[in-house]
Amino acid sequence: MSKTKSQYCCSECGGLSAKWQGQCPHCQAWNTLLETAIETVHQANRHRALAASSPSQALSQVTLDEDTRFATGMDELDRVLGGGLVQGGVILIGGDPGIGKSTLLLQMLGAVGTRLSTLYVSAEESARQIALRAQRLQLIGSPVQVLAEIQLGQILVELERQRPAVAVIDSIQTVYWDALQSAPGSVSQVRECAAQLTRYAKQSGTTLFLVGHVTKEGALAGPRVLEHIVDTVLYFEGDSSSSFRLVRAFKNRFGAVNELGVFAMTDVGLKGVSNPSAIFLSGHHAGVPGSCIMVTQEGTRPLLVEIQALVETAATPNPRRLSVGLEQNRLAMLLAVLHRHGGIACHDQDVFINAVGGVRINEPAADLALLSAIISSFKNKAIGSKLVIFGEVGLTGEIRPVQRGQERLKEAAKLGFTHALLPYANLPKQTIDGMSVTGIKHLQEAVQYLRDS
Ligand code: TYD
Ligand code: MG
Repeated sequence: MSKTKSQYCCSECGGLSAKWQGQCPHCQAWNTLLETAIETVHQANRHRALAASSPSQALSQVTLDEDTRFATGMDELDRVLGGGLVQGGVILIGGDPGIGKSTLLLQMLGAVGTRLSTLYVSAEESARQIALRAQRLQLIGSPVQVLAEIQLGQILVELERQRPAVAVIDSIQTVYWDALQSAPGSVSQVRECAAQLTRYAKQSGTTLFLVGHVTKEGALAGPRVLEHIVDTVLYFEGDSSSSFRLVRAFKNRFGAVNELGVFAMTDVGLKGVSNPSAIFLSGHHAGVPGSCIMVTQEGTRPLLVEIQALVETAATPNPRRLSVGLEQNRLAMLLAVLHRHGGIACHDQDVFINAVGGVRINEPAADLALLSAIISSFKNKAIGSKLVIFGEVGLTGEIRPVQRGQERLKEAAKLGFTHALLPYANLPKQTIDGMSVTGIKHLQEAVQYLRDS
């Protein structure tokens, strides 16, 4: 019996190696090589372009169709997409299981379906399950076409036959092409299926949504090339304990990134929340000492987080330092800096720190917010509710700049904050609407600012 030959494929860059190695020889990423069967069938396909080819022409000669963008009718989704759907656009939407990807897309098709032809392809659920969901979403009687199918060939045949204006593939990890030997969800399957579907979208003008699974770390599962192939990458985020869901554009060829759509999950599906700052603030008790709002950057995504501190006279000779969501050693270091350079001594105080909502913050931009929360609790003086604070604090008490300061400020402004205390080097070059900023160079200035404000 002949042995099946295998090779190793990098899940980051899709590069191939003959043997397993700890580091990918192509992109130098660690621990990304996965064993796959050698695929020979698709070699001819691999080098086909994603967009339809045509002879070269002057940029000025390219005809632009005016009317290619159309709204879905769900305002929050349109906002994230940069104003609506684009003909032939391919959108990848990722998120944790059960967060509402299928619900959102079915609702979107329901809203678009009254005007345009639509097709919902589910490779995860049966037509009956989709119908049950549609009933819950009050979409019974809607003209949306559904297809429960996992074979790429069949899906393409159906797409060709119906030529829908908008189609959803739920999900790209469960679709498979039978010309490949590897299992659905493997690097080569995901890459090939996504490439073929994208090719179809570009050539037919269908707007295509691909649902993508995410890994434990929250990144989209499958090869990194997937994110390069598609036009738009959206992430669905949210805490399972709250009903609020955020949809964020991570890459968008047709609009701005870091655009945020906010939804609430109700018993009749997702409802857009047009004023998200209000929902955020409802969970935040303004005017309480020991609470400080910061903007953290999770990967490339800014996120507003409340940091709480409780500073209380220690009853034992060994005061306790307890930190949830932030690094314990960093807390000890920052308390020393606060004593030496801020003139506030906590050596006889218990200090408890919590990043609200169960988030973990690993970046040094939290330093200044953390110390502000501690100062606020220690002095029993509340921090203004419209104030955000971020910045790195060095061992000599200097306030160092952090990455993407401008984006953090924009996010805070978007969520209704009006003041920011930040590193001097992060002061924005242009003013941000509705946001007044104070740049500081040393911890002493922060102590003063918090005392006087
Ligand atoms: P779903 O859309 O199936 O998630 P995904 O496709 O991302 O895995 O998630 C649905 C979840 O939302 C499920 O836990 C039930 C809940 N839900 C509601 O609360 N209200 C609704 O109207 C619907 C349809 C689902
Ligand atoms: Mg689903």
